[in-house]
Amino acid sequence: MLRILANPKDLAHAAAEHFVARSLAAVEQRGSFSVALSGGSTPKLLFTLLADPNEPFRDQIPWPNIHFFWSDERHVPPDHPDSNYRMANEAMLSRVPVAKNNIHRVPSENPSATEAASEYEQTLVETTRQSLPQLDLILLGLGADGHTASIFPGSEVLHETKRLVAAPWVEKLKTYRITMTLPLLNNGASVVFLVSGSEKAEIVKNVFEGRDRYPAQAIKPTDGELLWLLDKAAATETADL
Ligand code: 6PG
Repeated sequence: MLRILANPKDLAHAAAEHFVARSLAAVEQRGSFSVALSGGSTPKLLFTLLADPNEPFRDQIPWPNIHFFWSDERHVPPDHPDSNYRMANEAMLSRVPVAKNNIHRVPSENPSATEAASEYEQTLVETTRQSLPQLDLILLGLGADGHTASIFPGSEVLHETKRLVAAPWVEKLKTYRITMTLPLLNNGASVVFLVSGSEKAEIVKNVFEGRDRYPAQAIKPTDGELLWLLDKAAATETADL
C-alpha cells in the first residue's frame, strides 16, 4: 500500500494515526505493543508529534504497554549526536509515560558491534518470547542509495537467513552498524516506510520501477502489511504512483 501526503507534516500525521491505531489494536488483543523505530532524520517529526500534548495523539497512546526497539543503530554510545536512540529519546521517549524497562535500545556502546548485535537479538527473543519475533510495527527509512535500516547495497546482510540482528561493516561510512535483518524485518505485522524530500525522488522512482536491485526492495513482509508513506516531494519523479 502507498500513500502520498502533501508535505512532511501531513506525512508525520498519517504515520501518527497509523501508530495510534496499531498500538491500540495490539494492546486490546495482547496487552502489549512492540514497535521498532527507524533512525536518521525523517522520523523525528513523527516522534515529536506523538509526544506533543497539544496534538491529538499523545493521550490516545497506551505508552506503558509499549515495548520500543530500533530497526538499526549506529555504533556509537547512546549519548552520541549520531545515536538513533538519543534522537528518539529526546524527541519522544523522555516526554511520555513509557515504562523504562520497555525501552530496549541497542547496546551500541559495546566496542564490539558483533557482540552488541547478538546481545540485542537475545533481548528481542526474550522480550517477545518468540524465536522469530513478530513485531507489531516496524518503521523504516530509505537512503538515497536504496539502503533501509542499515542494510546497504551489496551488503552480506542481504543474504542473512538465520541471525535476527547483524553488525555489518559499512565501507562507505567507514563504520559498523547494528541492524535488524530481513528475516526479522519481513516478519513484521506492519512494516512502514517513511520517506520525505526531493532528494529521495530518484531512489523512490528506481525502487518502485524495480530498476536495479536495492535493499529496500527486499522488504516484503511474509504475513504482514507493507505501507509506503511518502510526501509529495519524494514522489515527484514517479509519475504513475
Ligand atoms: C539510519 C537509518 C537509515 C535511515 C535512512 C534515511 O540509522 O541512518 O535507520 O536507514 O532511515 O538513512 O535517513 P534520513 O531519514 O535521514 O533520510
